Amino acid sequence: MENRRPLIAGNWKMFKTCSEAVETTRRLLTLLEKNVDTDVMIAPPFTALAAVANIAKGSLISVGAQNLFWEKEGAYTGEISAPMIASAGCKYVIIGHSERRRYFGDTDQTVNRKIAAAIQNDLIPIFCVGESEKERESKETFSVLDKQVKKGLENFSSNDLKTLVIAYEPVWAIGTGKTATRIQAQEAHAFLRSKLVKCFGNKLAKSIRILYGGSVKPNNISELMAMPDVDGALVGGASLDAETFRKIIDFQT
Ligand code: PGA
Repeated sequence: MENRRPLIAGNWKMFKTCSEAVETTRRLLTLLEKNVDTDVMIAPPFTALAAVANIAKGSLISVGAQNLFWEKEGAYTGEISAPMIASAGCKYVIIGHSERRRYFGDTDQTVNRKIAAAIQNDLIPIFCVGESEKERESKETFSVLDKQVKKGLENFSSNDLKTLVIAYEPVWAIGTGKTATRIQAQEAHAFLRSKLVKCFGNKLAKSIRILYGGSVKPNNISELMAMPDVDGALVGGASLDAETFRKIIDFQT
């Protein structure tokens, strides 16, 4: 893992009311050791961001949003901008999750604009990529990843991407209980890193954290984290319960 600090990120998706999110965060705060050697992020729904960020302030838990719209403000009913997310106390934002691409029309082009808005507002983008089951079966995994990275990161300089985090989330492994094997994860992560080397040089490529996502659980996190290019995890279902998520964060022990 070179010198990359691990990041365990919880994506709560459309689960938890504001009070439920606060309660889970409080529970997690009581469970976590003070000196965890891992960055920890949780991404509650928009309605709970400010409340969760408020109680997590100064702790080792950072808060992230699950999406943003790239304009700063305007007549865009129902949308949330990067400055709004930042002012709610967020440090991170998940961009281009496969559920956004599948149900809400996110494309490589809109993902690119969203990443730009995140960077301009000092939010750390967690840029999600990954192939579908059909694409894997037809051996298109690498070409899909290649295209998603090329288009998603188009027109950025290496300086822009200093804080970027990438999440490799094979669509067939999300919420299905099917995890990519550690070999499959390592292969995809190594491919992504080699692509980053080509586009942005060795130094940046070596510093970017690449998370694995898709049915990560307490019983598979350690073997995934043992792979050289797996720098953390983006966890959905197993991040909703504080005790279970804590076990994932404590993967070393
Ligand atoms: P899962 O979701 O852990 O429930 O598979 C991962 C994700 O969608 O980020």
